[in-house]
Amino acid sequence: MACVTPVRRVSGRTVTTLEGVPEADRRRWADAFVAAGASQCGFCTPGIVMRLAALSGRHSAVDDTAIETALLAHLCRCTGWQSIIDAARVVLDADGAAPPDRATARTSSGAAPWSAEAAARRATIEGGSRQRVGPEVALGHGGFADDTAPAGSLVAVPRADGGWAVADSLGEARALAGKVQGRNSTVGLRHPLDPPPGTWVLRLQTTFVEPAYLEPDASWCAPGGEPSSPVANGGAFGGKRASPVAEVARRLADEHGRPVRVVFAREDVVRLGPKRPPVAAGLRQDGTGVVHVARTPGSAALSAWSAALHRTAPGLVVHEVTIPGPPVSATLRGAGWVEGAVLVAGLAVMTEGTLGPGCTCRIESPHGGRATATIGGDGRLAVWVDAGEVLDEVVLRSYCVGAAHQALGWVRSEGLAVGEDGSVLDLTIRSFGVLAARAMPSVSVEVEPSRRPAVNGSDAVFAAVAAAAWVAAGCPDQWPIERGGTS
Ligand code: FES
Repeated sequence: MACVTPVRRVSGRTVTTLEGVPEADRRRWADAFVAAGASQCGFCTPGIVMRLAALSGRHSAVDDTAIETALLAHLCRCTGWQSIIDAARVVLDADGAAPPDRATARTSSGAAPWSAEAAARRATIEGGSRQRVGPEVALGHGGFADDTAPAGSLVAVPRADGGWAVADSLGEARALAGKVQGRNSTVGLRHPLDPPPGTWVLRLQTTFVEPAYLEPDASWCAPGGEPSSPVANGGAFGGKRASPVAEVARRLADEHGRPVRVVFAREDVVRLGPKRPPVAAGLRQDGTGVVHVARTPGSAALSAWSAALHRTAPGLVVHEVTIPGPPVSATLRGAGWVEGAVLVAGLAVMTEGTLGPGCTCRIESPHGGRATATIGGDGRLAVWVDAGEVLDEVVLRSYCVGAAHQALGWVRSEGLAVGEDGSVLDLTIRSFGVLAARAMPSVSVEVEPSRRPAVNGSDAVFAAVAAAAWVAAGCPDQWPIERGGTS
């Protein structure tokens, strides 16, 4: 993993990157990733392709367990793993044959021929920012902001006092800023909000959750120019909407009279980037109740979060409670309305007396996407989605599996350890509790052919799967339900 391997550790060794793989093999992997929808933002993809390409030299058969084991070293936040495993199967089983060409496959099956433009439209609707779909994204050319900065640019990184350390190189800037490598802690998760006082039939407490987009915030700007967009390769689940990097790059470039790159390290994203706010909720049988939502110093008011919650849970009263902690935001995926929808769905299933595996949770998002999710007794997840005109089924399916992955992680394993004083204690991406390939159940996605205009479908899937995971587990009082906490 290039991002965490100091060069001195590979002294005397041969290092092969994706650019060093023979062109025919690179093409096979890239085509397979496109055919399976296995690359969304594409940030993790080159490393994953290298890991999988190493499997193709094995003499023994490569089964799914071998692929999942190989993927343990990697994190992919977008795809939910299943499409990556599908892509690996295409290449590893093909024994040197070319993966199916998407355009040809679609035409011979009678469906509309593949259109890069339609695929990009669907990806843009699901990802929330302009997206491209194609083999170049799988090969690591997804349009990452920092990649296009001119050589010789100054580099700026955040200082602990809120200012910026500016220097000729990243190393010098980090030294100036006094950056210390972030670590994990052994501190358990806390649920920082007490349950609202009252008598409730259904309760829920959650904790700070990191959106965990993989590419840290970055931008660059030339003096008098326009800064590069930190969301050029994907929407970061809404987590970069208020990112300061573009405006800081513009200001510093004008101040210094030279192009300036502004780059966050992972620790900066965790300390400065927006989190899903913790909630503590209590519901009565009739659907009324109270939700406390955590606001932290320096975070904007959560009135948009409350308004969104009321769209799906009109019987709930929301109170903001100010506590110490990292920034929280109402711009993250489905903020507010998903929490409301999940609480309402949980109450409905509880009232029917059918808590446990096999319950189907049905969600309609405020944007018109519809989804159902069911977790069977064997743990398998079945999803149905109606996102209007499909545009590209592979892309839509991939986003839905990714949304299911994020929802399962939120309910089962994700959270940030935050001290009583509000400081974030877990500073590496490994500590967020993102589900690894091995922990991901099989997901089937049924896509509704629809004549409605295309709308976002994966956010409805996110809500439906979160609700299904919660009710399948019997609606326990605290998330994450499978990871230890201290309260
Ligand atoms: S495609 Fe893997 S993190 Fe985005």
